[in-house]
Amino acid sequence: CWTNSLLNLIPTPHSLSTDECFCLCSSGHIDDLYPYFMRHAKQIFPMLDCMEDLRKISDLRVPANWYPEARAIQRKVIFHAGPTNSGKTHHAIQRYLAAKSGVYCGPLKLLAHEIFEKSNNAGVPCDLVTGEERTFVDEEGRQAEHVACTIEMCSVTTPYEVAVIDEIQMIRDISRGWAWTRALLGLCAEEIHVCGEPAAINFVTELMYTTGEEVEVRNYKRLTPFSILDHAVESLDNLRPGDCIVCFSKNDIYSISRQIEIRGLECAVIYGSLPPGTKLSQAKKFNDPEDPCKILVATDAIGMGLNLSIKRIIFNSLVKPNINEKGEKELDTISTSQALQIAGRAGRFSSIFKEGEVTTMHRDDLPILKEILSRNVDAIEDIFVSLSQVDGMYFVCNIDDFKFLADMIQHIPLNLRSRYVFCTAPINKKQPFVCTSFLKFARQFSRDEPLTFDWVCRHVSWPLVPPKNIKDLVHLEAVHDVLDLYLWLSYRFMDMFPDANHVREIQKELDSIIQVGVRNITRLIRATETNAPPGTNPLSNQRRLGPSPVSPRRVRGAPKAQDSGVEGWQLDKSLGSRLVQEGLLTPDLLRQLQKEWSKVHRQEEEGVKLVAGNNKTKGNKKKKK
Ligand SMILES: Nc1ncnc2c1ncn2[C@@H]1O[C@H](COP(=O)(O)OP(=O)(O)O)[C@@H](O)[C@H]1O
Ligand SMILES: [Mg+2]
Repeated sequence: CWTNSLLNLIPTPHSLSTDECFCLCSSGHIDDLYPYFMRHAKQIFPMLDCMEDLRKISDLRVPANWYPEARAIQRKVIFHAGPTNSGKTHHAIQRYLAAKSGVYCGPLKLLAHEIFEKSNNAGVPCDLVTGEERTFVDEEGRQAEHVACTIEMCSVTTPYEVAVIDEIQMIRDISRGWAWTRALLGLCAEEIHVCGEPAAINFVTELMYTTGEEVEVRNYKRLTPFSILDHAVESLDNLRPGDCIVCFSKNDIYSISRQIEIRGLECAVIYGSLPPGTKLSQAKKFNDPEDPCKILVATDAIGMGLNLSIKRIIFNSLVKPNINEKGEKELDTISTSQALQIAGRAGRFSSIFKEGEVTTMHRDDLPILKEILSRNVDAIEDIFVSLSQVDGMYFVCNIDDFKFLADMIQHIPLNLRSRYVFCTAPINKKQPFVCTSFLKFARQFSRDEPLTFDWVCRHVSWPLVPPKNIKDLVHLEAVHDVLDLYLWLSYRFMDMFPDANHVREIQKELDSIIQVGVRNITRLIRATETNAPPGTNPLSNQRRLGPSPVSPRRVRGAPKAQDSGVEGWQLDKSLGSRLVQEGLLTPDLLRQLQKEWSKVHRQEEEGVKLVAGNNKTKGNKKKKK
């Protein structure tokens, strides 16, 4: 077979040594060529020399062995299985509070905060660790025996008596599932309490075969039953106190809350990109029996992590816009698991709404919802097997976001470690301002100039004022994310991001400013409508008269829905155009970025000329293209 390869590799005559020429010209046996072939092949493919090492480090077949500390102890795994609102987390947390030491691993900052507060209120000192925040209850900064964290941040080397892994079904998530896998295999705790959908039981049990650990399953039933109604709501005139209308796009949220206001009712609004303080204050307003606001308009962000006194869940639609791998917008009918998670918010154990109800806004959607809710939740194994690229039950997580960030900063000279850390930043790539800020941070960092508080304030134009319209509000949400990015980086590069405390202070202030905006969201919507040029509706959405269009194809792992408002752009291979096409950059921002980039390039090129002959700089120049 190497003779075949030889045909592809045959060197041009001027690159051959005398020996090789001799070999080719005389009529020796073809095997005589082998050493020369190998020498040449290794010149072209230097990795041939380290194939064995490469094979070893790419052997991902037994992930359980990556966690020797956990393998050194015998762990007991307890699976708390049941639907939303069945008391799974509650029971696991009781055990966590009673233990000498414990770690809670949750999917959201909001949930980590909730457990942090619950634990400290119960007299069990507990620290908080998220990507952007470390709070130690001990004044001198010593670690407490208990810690509540976002799952990505849990330690797999610290020993605990009890560990709680919440929402285990997220182990199937294409982008974040790795963190649940790591926690499940790697946490060093005598007892691991896993909470989640029963659909994950078999999968977790099988995974534990590889570690030789048994799984005890405890089943839970809903504390508050919910029923699917036989009629749709059909009109916003039929709303009642305790109703929550669930939408899958922000524009639907805006338009519905405006229509509710026209009917003289007050509503609270919750969607994913709001800061945590704002979400909590909206939830509080809706839950407060004394507050006149008794209607909630929300996205599926309510599926996890917020306690809400909802009587009736009304699905405004059953399709969720997604962006597929090609950057095209696609509408997917929600899955049974998603529908159950949302429907499960109807009825709350400790509220006046003991029994929940679920229905749709549009009549034609109701039979579809009933059908979705009657299906069994996909068992998790199926998804793993179909995607498996490694061994049996595992697959390699999606690294699109990582690659996206790597593309964005590839022209910036950074050493490998810093570049890697930057690329793992958890940013929302759909927000143009966050992306441009990420670039600016990386550029400033590469110049070895610390990102001071003053610098950040200039960058985000602090101080900021309450939003006057929806565009302002969206921008403030993005600024909040940029400050999150700063805080996240500050834990990884303390000397380069030295002002985390100040940044945290203004981020809190910003959360309050956003809260003011969201409290008056219908006024912002009105202002946006009034300022729009005639004939356009800035809040136009996919409202329709008929039922949700049902897309036949479901794309796994597509990024979350988002309303780009940018359409009709030609597909182009350049990153900039792709960003615009995906709705991640506005054309204006792209132009501004191009201007900035060309300026920086010019400056850098000039720099290169000045220090020509310096190998390091040449290397940098080569990287840019
Ligand atoms: N035994 C209980 N006593 C008091 N409150 C409970 C009990 N079980 C659950 N709750 C409350 O009911 C709500 C839902 O419980 P939770 O554990 O969050 O459900 P799940 O994790 O199954 O979604 C929470 O507000 C929780 O505090
Ligand atoms: Mg729970």
